[in-house]
Amino acid sequence: MNTQLAKDVFWVGVVDWYVRDFHSYVTKRGSTYNAYLVKGSTATAAIDSVKAPFVDKQIANILAHTSVAELKYIVCNHAEPDHSGGLPALVATFPNATVLCNAKCRDALSRHYNIASWKIQIVKDGETLSLGDRTLQFFDTPMVHWPESMAAWLQEEKILFSMDIFGQHYASSARFDDEADLCEVMQEAKTYYANIVLPFVRPVQAVFEKVKGLDIQIAAPSHGIIWRSHFAEIVAAYRNWCVSKPTKKVIVVFSTMWQSTRKMADAIAAGAATRDVRVKVMDTLTTSDTEIITEVMDCACIAVGSPTLNQSIMPAMAAALTYIGGLKPAGKFGFAFGSYGWASKGAEEAELRLKNMGVTLIQEPLRCQFVPDVAMLELCHKAGVALADKALEVAKE
Ligand code: FEO
Repeated sequence: MNTQLAKDVFWVGVVDWYVRDFHSYVTKRGSTYNAYLVKGSTATAAIDSVKAPFVDKQIANILAHTSVAELKYIVCNHAEPDHSGGLPALVATFPNATVLCNAKCRDALSRHYNIASWKIQIVKDGETLSLGDRTLQFFDTPMVHWPESMAAWLQEEKILFSMDIFGQHYASSARFDDEADLCEVMQEAKTYYANIVLPFVRPVQAVFEKVKGLDIQIAAPSHGIIWRSHFAEIVAAYRNWCVSKPTKKVIVVFSTMWQSTRKMADAIAAGAATRDVRVKVMDTLTTSDTEIITEVMDCACIAVGSPTLNQSIMPAMAAALTYIGGLKPAGKFGFAFGSYGWASKGAEEAELRLKNMGVTLIQEPLRCQFVPDVAMLELCHKAGVALADKALEVAKE
């Protein structure tokens, strides 16, 4: 495995082939916890740690390039435990090393670990650290994705250790974008953006503004593949994602009890498919919330359906809408639908949740008692056509 980013700059992280859950984000392709080592003429710095159970492997990777005595700094860009969990072991293993972080990060670390004996040096936004012939510069990147998040810039090699920005949960034996399957990597970068970064649009734009003067040649995120040959592609994708650019895509998401709401969903999708839009239909029981939000992120329009269960919506739909709503997809148009037995509550509750998510409703909810008849399925079909027409009107592609 090629782990060298530049002369004396190495990836010293860990590949986690097996992880499938990341605080409810389904990581179907595993992940990596990226950590790096920069050797300067007068000092060596490690950048970030890994999840606690993997730290022995990180230590072995560091020691393949340097000695215990030589490691002078451990940069902590982010206190989230997948990047700081190994810090206590790193600090114990490398007694000459000083932990470098910003003030908010020190505070966060103190709430995770007993840091009383740690040597800690606080760095301010824009501050530099000389490693002799190498210089690290630190940029606060608040809320991308925690308040204390920071990125590190290796000036001489033009490498940005970008933390969560440009990351992907993607386990691979390849470390670089030109060694991996770029379609898979871009898909996982999009999934990562939708599931982690999406609520932080303004902070992402602020980071872009902050680093716009840097001539970035390599972007080394905290998860997944390192960008060195296709950096322009991932930047272009981020520019679209962070303005929530709607595409000609209609999403139909549903839960069903006795297939009535599914029949309504199918009719809506069939109506939408009569227009020149991409249509995706997703059952909350068989599609993860992770996949749903990834599709919703760049759609123009969405229809959400649930039958009534106990005066509300189906639990799987409630979970999906809670997850999606928390990630704040912006600028969508849509409507709700659903079947019921004796009291119509599901479609109404779905509509309320769409409203709370900021979706602009283009019609009243479609409700059907027990089983949709031909007339109801025709109404659903027409609503699907109208949804697709709206998508064509608002899409920017
Ligand atoms: Fe993998 Fe917000 O960190």
